[in-house]
Amino acid sequence: MESKEQTFMRIFLDTADIDEIREAARWGILSGVTTNPTLMMKSGGKSHEAVIREIAEIVDGPISAETISLDTEGMLVEARRFAKWHPSVVVKVPSTPNGWAAVKQLKQEGIRTNVTLCFSANQALFAALAGAYIISPFVGRLDDISEDGMQVVRDTVEVYRKHNLPTLVLAASIRHPLHIIDAAKAGADIATVPFKVLELAAKHPLTDKGIDSFLKDWQKFTEETGGRQA
Ligand code: E4P
Repeated sequence: MESKEQTFMRIFLDTADIDEIREAARWGILSGVTTNPTLMMKSGGKSHEAVIREIAEIVDGPISAETISLDTEGMLVEARRFAKWHPSVVVKVPSTPNGWAAVKQLKQEGIRTNVTLCFSANQALFAALAGAYIISPFVGRLDDISEDGMQVVRDTVEVYRKHNLPTLVLAASIRHPLHIIDAAKAGADIATVPFKVLELAAKHPLTDKGIDSFLKDWQKFTEETGGRQA
């Protein structure tokens, strides 16, 4: 998955929970994973490196690992360490001037970055100009403060398209199934989704009802025909 050659939206899982990742991968719809310090905290006792390596064994696609340094030099040190763990690693840095400076340097070193905690199209533009591989506008956290989070995704997609910026737009902080569809309609390249939301989006009561009634009718049919197939 390199820059804008892809033509359809991908689904990433927003988790560091290995069981959730295995299950979503089994569905055949998973193209990558994003993690952050909060998700790592919930992942249960293993080292950062161990978790990222384990995820990379399951999923064939970008795996985001987040830095915690606030200064550029510290981000670079962390990023170079993460990048050695697996070729799928994409290094997350925050939407700050120090983060963009790290992006520029890491691009020269061939290390891909995901600029996180993006809350405006201006921040998205700066990340792309610095050379980010992925930009992550946080939709749900903007909705939480009565702003239209998806508008940042729409604006970013528009700005990137108009100016041929190759950075991938990843809709983050997804809180419910409609966010996934709205991100797709907005032209996002990726939506990163918590497993709980993925499960909600996968389910439809009419599908379950339909399966149930087809099974019952098939049972009646085989009883009537005595199991004859031809
Ligand atoms: C993205 O990479 C972040 O990990 C994530 O989407 C944050 O979502 P939250 O606002 O639900 O914590």
